[in-house]
Amino acid sequence: MKAMHLKSVSAAPQDELDNQSLPGWIYHDPEFFEVEKQAIFRNSWQVVCHVNDIPRVGDFHTFEFFGESVVVVRAEEGVRAFHNVCRHRAARLVDGPKGNCGKRITCPYHAWTYGLDGRLVALSRETFKNLDTSRHGLAACEHEIYHGFVFVRFAPGLPSVREMLAPYEHEIAPYRFEDLVPMGRVSMRPRAVNWKNVTDNFSDGLHINVAHPGLTRLFGRGYGIEAKPWVDKMWGALRDTPSSNWSERAYQTFLPQVAHLPAERQRLWTYFKLWPNVAFDIYPDQIDFMQMIPLSPTETMIREIAYVHPDSRREMKAVRYLNWRINRRVSVEDKELIARVQQGMGSSSYSSGPLSDGEVCLRSFGKHMRRLIPQSKLPQAPPRGWSHG
Ligand code: FES
Ligand SMILES: [Fe+2]
Repeated sequence: MKAMHLKSVSAAPQDELDNQSLPGWIYHDPEFFEVEKQAIFRNSWQVVCHVNDIPRVGDFHTFEFFGESVVVVRAEEGVRAFHNVCRHRAARLVDGPKGNCGKRITCPYHAWTYGLDGRLVALSRETFKNLDTSRHGLAACEHEIYHGFVFVRFAPGLPSVREMLAPYEHEIAPYRFEDLVPMGRVSMRPRAVNWKNVTDNFSDGLHINVAHPGLTRLFGRGYGIEAKPWVDKMWGALRDTPSSNWSERAYQTFLPQVAHLPAERQRLWTYFKLWPNVAFDIYPDQIDFMQMIPLSPTETMIREIAYVHPDSRREMKAVRYLNWRINRRVSVEDKELIARVQQGMGSSSYSSGPLSDGEVCLRSFGKHMRRLIPQSKLPQAPPRGWSHG
């Protein structure tokens, strides 16, 4: 992978930029999108699954990202991550989002066979007489297991997931992520907007009381946001006043005590968004991750998977369903909002807008973008070819 050398740009003074949102053109420009692949995503941590998604030897999950395909597999001695690419003629090895490959991975093209530790263990010896098989094992993909969640990345550079989330370790630890099991609802929700539009919206506190009546009924005006260098935190505490909405009121009423959570987290919803595009939604009743996968300058796939601690109480079953109903509504509201923003980002009349002092997450995100891709300081797109030096 060749390193990118982006030209520095002359732009408005730093403090002026800090008070402005990112310019509209970077939300649809194809060349900017290409640059983001390298400058933002190549070394970013991407969550694939949880170790409890792959409990038995041979269980695997795959992950597709900007043309890369990775397989995370349960081997005898633990979880491994490999590029899903045969070392002979590059054929994709395993298919589908998940499955079980048994004790070996056999390529469907010419039957090279790999152990779950990645070693090339069998091939036609008549065809490949003197091949040194030790040099043709699967290519490992760097991975990190963060409290049970398996993250991968394609290049080094950023701190580890654990380091990035360290400021909130004491808040996350009580949720016992390690013991989570999948709830079986994997959702892939396409959005016809730029990925940053989805992540901006996720970390935007200002719109809650304007555009999410359900969350306002649940949290009142107490929705909080906070930014640390690599992670945004949003939170809301459930009010005692019963909501006028049936699902919300039932959720408030039936949400049971969760034995492993401290008192102050029993009725708290918390969201953490890790740079640049992965978030954890943490509820007392369930935890999910949301990953905004960029597909094109104006298309994003939201990949979302919910996990729970095994709990057979009827109230717990009920609130998990109610949570889904409440958040499905929120998701529809956000879909509508981000579509409006995406449309406006294309207007010749718009470059960027002012950020209020409280918009700390958008400020933090903007700083990262301007540092990594200096052209995002520019109010308009530079002439095409700007990224080619
Ligand atoms: S491409 Fe896999 S064995 Fe030939
Ligand atoms: Fe929202």
